Amino acid sequence: MSRIKDLQKQVNKVLEKLEDGDRRLKAVSHLHGVALAAAMLAKVRGENAELATMAGLLHDLYAYKSGSYDDHAQLGADYARKLLDKLAVTSPEETDVICTAIRHHDSKAETNGPMDEILKDADVIDHSLSDPTKAVKPHEAARYARLRAELRLAD
Ligand SMILES: [Fe+2]
Ligand SMILES: [Fe+2]
Repeated sequence: MSRIKDLQKQVNKVLEKLEDGDRRLKAVSHLHGVALAAAMLAKVRGENAELATMAGLLHDLYAYKSGSYDDHAQLGADYARKLLDKLAVTSPEETDVICTAIRHHDSKAETNGPMDEILKDADVIDHSLSDPTKAVKPHEAARYARLRAELRLAD
């Protein structure tokens, strides 16, 4: 089984326990949407698409599990590290790359490393394009404008 399949299985195990069906569907849709967008951006930018996918799958898992977005980037990075340590499918360096990206993913106004930026941008793509008729969130507008130029997206 691929590492991504292993991780998807683990993520699904956590999500299956969510009692609220709507929230569970939203979680599945967002985590998989961000994972796909992250893989695509990694391919565009010459970065590691496998690690980008894994970061996308994990990035908000803690928030969905706990029901709280308070400090969810830091707490989510800690939770992702525990999960990855348990799964034992990544090297310590790979775990660091994934967890650092998760720790930074909510700091949309800052610029961090390449994988951090991929995860932030993938989050913005899912927020902005899962319903393309909705207005882009104001705090994500600058980042979305840069993505539009990079990916040649129409208005
Ligand atoms: Fe988040
Ligand atoms: Fe997210």
